[in-house]
Amino acid sequence: MINSKINILITGGAGYLGSMISTELVKQNFNVTVIDLLKYDKGSLNHLYVNDNFKLIKKDVRDIKFLKKIVKKFDYIIPLAALVGAPLCEKFKKDAVSTNFDAINGLSKVITNKNKIIFMTSNSGYGIGEKNKFCDENSPLKPISLYGRTKCDAEKVVNNQKNNVCFRLATVFGNSYRMRSDLLVNNFVQTAIKKNKLTIFEPKFRRNFIHVKDVVNAVIFTIKNFKKMNGEIYNLGLSNANLTKIGLAKKIKKFHPSLKISVIKNRKDPDQRDYFVSNKKIEKVGFRPKVNLENGIKELLNIFKNDPNKIINNY
Ligand SMILES: NC(=O)c1ccc[n+]([C@@H]2O[C@H](COP(=O)([O-])OP(=O)(O)OC[C@H]3O[C@@H](n4cnc5c(N)ncnc54)[C@H](O)[C@@H]3O)[C@@H](O)[C@H]2O)c1
Repeated sequence: MINSKINILITGGAGYLGSMISTELVKQNFNVTVIDLLKYDKGSLNHLYVNDNFKLIKKDVRDIKFLKKIVKKFDYIIPLAALVGAPLCEKFKKDAVSTNFDAINGLSKVITNKNKIIFMTSNSGYGIGEKNKFCDENSPLKPISLYGRTKCDAEKVVNNQKNNVCFRLATVFGNSYRMRSDLLVNNFVQTAIKKNKLTIFEPKFRRNFIHVKDVVNAVIFTIKNFKKMNGEIYNLGLSNANLTKIGLAKKIKKFHPSLKISVIKNRKDPDQRDYFVSNKKIEKVGFRPKVNLENGIKELLNIFKNDPNKIINNY
């Protein structure tokens, strides 16, 4: 099918992931409609208004009556609108539940058999993984934050729909039209530039990472391979970037040698996530991420060197 005949709705399409996904889909000639309240960066989609195949609707995704009116015309729906991250959800608990779960539940009740959903949740649902074991898609979910719980519950609802592909994303890094500094790699690199020092609690905590461009690539791959991926949940991360926090800090120091790393013992990190992740399932269907962690770190170092304050935070 020619892309220009495919209609795609992206909620939260002005966000960190959404602005990058929208931009690539518009470039590839899909018809893209974004619903977003523009809570953070009002200009992250400014470069797209010039295109006939792009439209922004400034609305709240919790308006299910409105969604019901428009969903019919879309082939794909990518629901990204959410309060993202544990601290933000703790601060605005009610909004976190109504946006991250209720809106998805409401959407699931008004979609049609034609709609194909591509859903993104976080692999933070794995919470605290077992020692020396990689979490795969069958590993038990035991989210340790309200954010994690709302996203796991929403994934369950989406995965019960007729047409759906769900991704459990590793911690995303890299540049976006709407930047975030709360994501671990982005945050470490920005701090490295601003303070020339990284202070690390619980240095052995393990995490997995993926570049934002590869999240975009995974969406395009899914559109092309929807039939064979339908109904499945996939981890999405770099298999060669299962790393401890201290390992990540040392990688950054390789490209920024003056960086001082100090480890604080006996202090709890507020973020208790600790797990390695297997990405074999998505690799088996033929998807391979392209951007490695080193290139992402180099990208971020350049960005923050030139503009150390280039960040619009969630909180
Ligand atoms: N960035 C990551 O590392 C990551 C990892 C896993 C999953 N995800 C998921 O991907 C999605 C997008 O994350 P992100 O990093 O782009 O976050 P983001 O905060 O940059 O984007 C969220 C967007 O949703 C919009 N929004 C929030 N509430 C809304 C509402 N009620 N109505 C309309 N729009 C609303 C915001 O204005 C914002 O543009 C989320 O669902 C998140 O859970 C992100």
